[in-house]
Amino acid sequence: MTDVTERLRAGGATPPARATPAGAAETVRVWDPFVRVFHWSLVILFAVAWATGDELQLLHEWAGYAIAVLLAARVVWGIIGTTHARFGDFIYRPSAVASHLADSLRFRARRYLGHNPAGGAMVVALLLTLALTAATGILMSGEAYRDAHWLEDIHEMAANLMLLLIGLHVAGVILASFEHRENLVKAMLTGRKRRQPDDSGIPSTHDP
Ligand code: HEM
Ligand code: HEM
Repeated sequence: MTDVTERLRAGGATPPARATPAGAAETVRVWDPFVRVFHWSLVILFAVAWATGDELQLLHEWAGYAIAVLLAARVVWGIIGTTHARFGDFIYRPSAVASHLADSLRFRARRYLGHNPAGGAMVVALLLTLALTAATGILMSGEAYRDAHWLEDIHEMAANLMLLLIGLHVAGVILASFEHRENLVKAMLTGRKRRQPDDSGIPSTHDP
């Protein structure tokens, strides 16, 4: 592998850290531009799709198609992308997810540079539910399933489940932000997070 590819795979971890303008804490690159553009586009498109479910059918369908394209690209990026974008970096054993959740509620969960085990499980749930919503929507809009009401029911249920998941997702983001005293929303905008002495910037092993 070339040096450049290696650096890309490391999630831009080299150069690993840079001083903030204040010169205090150092930060390290965690979210690559694709992940950030993906995330905020998804937020906007989901809001558009949700708001137009009952009316503005054309806009609704285009927002849904755009989401489907984003999801497909995210799956590819989850396999070949930068360190913290890869599925292997944030899919943990269910027991690790459960113990991370328990630790979180006691405000003593370990800090992760990428998604923590509970956050990673939520990312997978969000991606799968969104895929189900988009897939049922696309089938419904075609000729073959035009009168399939069961499909419409699944579409609506998946869209409603998305709302629940998003609520939990945002609550988890806020909880983890307070727990580790870092603004995770800002990190999803800038791509950078505070570097800690134990953060090597090197792909993490999965065991806490
Ligand atoms: C992926 C994001 C999507 C979300 C969050 C979403 C959400 C919704 C919601 C909330 C409704 C209203 C259900 C109701 O009250 O009956 C709806 C209806 C519908 N959606 Fe989607 N949808 C998405 C994608 C799509 C796609 C990709 C298509 C087709 C290409 C589509 C086609 C439709 C159709 C045909 C209806 C029924 C409209 C009607 O009969 O009034 N949706 N969707
Ligand atoms: C305004 C509301 C939202 C905020 C503040 C927010 C914030 C965040 C943050 C901070 C992360 C990174 C979590 C971490 O540090 O581990 C994240 C990841 C993620 N969020 Fe959201 N989010 C919001 C809405 C949404 C919505 C509406 C969706 C889905 C439609 C969504 C889907 C995702 C996904 C899939 C990821 C993983 C990104 C990746 O690895 O590619 N988020 N979100």
